[in-house]
Amino acid sequence: MNNLIQLSNINKSFVTKKKINVLKKINYKFNKGKIYSLIGPSGSGKSTLLNILSLIDRPSSGSIAIENNYIDFKNSKKNDLLRAKKIGIIYQQDNLLHDFTAIENIYLASLAAGNNKEISISKSKNLLKKVGLTNRSNHFPSELSGGEKQRISIARALINDPQIILADEPTGSLDIETAKGIFELLKNQINHNRLIIFATHNRFFADKSDCLLEIVNGNIRTINGRV
Ligand SMILES: Nc1ncnc2c1ncn2[C@@H]1O[C@H](COP(=O)(O)OP(=O)(O)OP(=O)(O)O)[C@@H](O)[C@H]1O
Ligand SMILES: [Mg+2]
Repeated sequence: MNNLIQLSNINKSFVTKKKINVLKKINYKFNKGKIYSLIGPSGSGKSTLLNILSLIDRPSSGSIAIENNYIDFKNSKKNDLLRAKKIGIIYQQDNLLHDFTAIENIYLASLAAGNNKEISISKSKNLLKKVGLTNRSNHFPSELSGGEKQRISIARALINDPQIILADEPTGSLDIETAKGIFELLKNQINHNRLIIFATHNRFFADKSDCLLEIVNGNIRTINGRV
């Protein structure tokens, strides 16, 4: 069974002054060992979907199963732990903790998953090496470039060896050469047991995924796929 995440009849609406239906009855299965890209115009619901997949937000109706286990959105404690252990999240906007250094930002994610400090620090050092930033270990986010911050975010997302990596426009704010480097780094994290989903406005990167999905009228349309 390659199916890792199953979405069944996912609806998501937001009610402010009036109700808007962003996601409408989405049924979709994401397989492990694959990298999916998610495109769609601004406001189409890419971040909304990623927030639901990361269990940060809950659907208005419908269900999600991860490895055939249904998520109970009322049990936020359990979901927080599941997220910490199983899901690595990378945002476009610099999402690092400003008062912590690069290495602290990485290992705090490991502590959050219940690991001990020594192991967490040692893993962080390996990851800093992997993303080529050993010499920026003690820099605060304000002392890092945009591309460096993204590499730290990727290292942080990887520290608990997550089975699922979700990235929301991970290259969005970077120049094209830096963006290519970050994209390659992200793409290289795929393995047979892992699922990566990233939202992007960049068709060049989107085309490099195993499966290109577009959100159209609140639903997922497969543009092309090798899954
Ligand atoms: N918390 C919220 N309350 C009300 N409306 C929201 C909320 N979050 C998102 N929306 C609305 O839902 C729609 C989808 O937003 P979303 O952020 O998912 O779009 P997106 O596809 O990620 O766009 P972009 O490419 O600009 O990042 C938008 O119309 C947005 O205004
Ligand atoms: Mg978005």
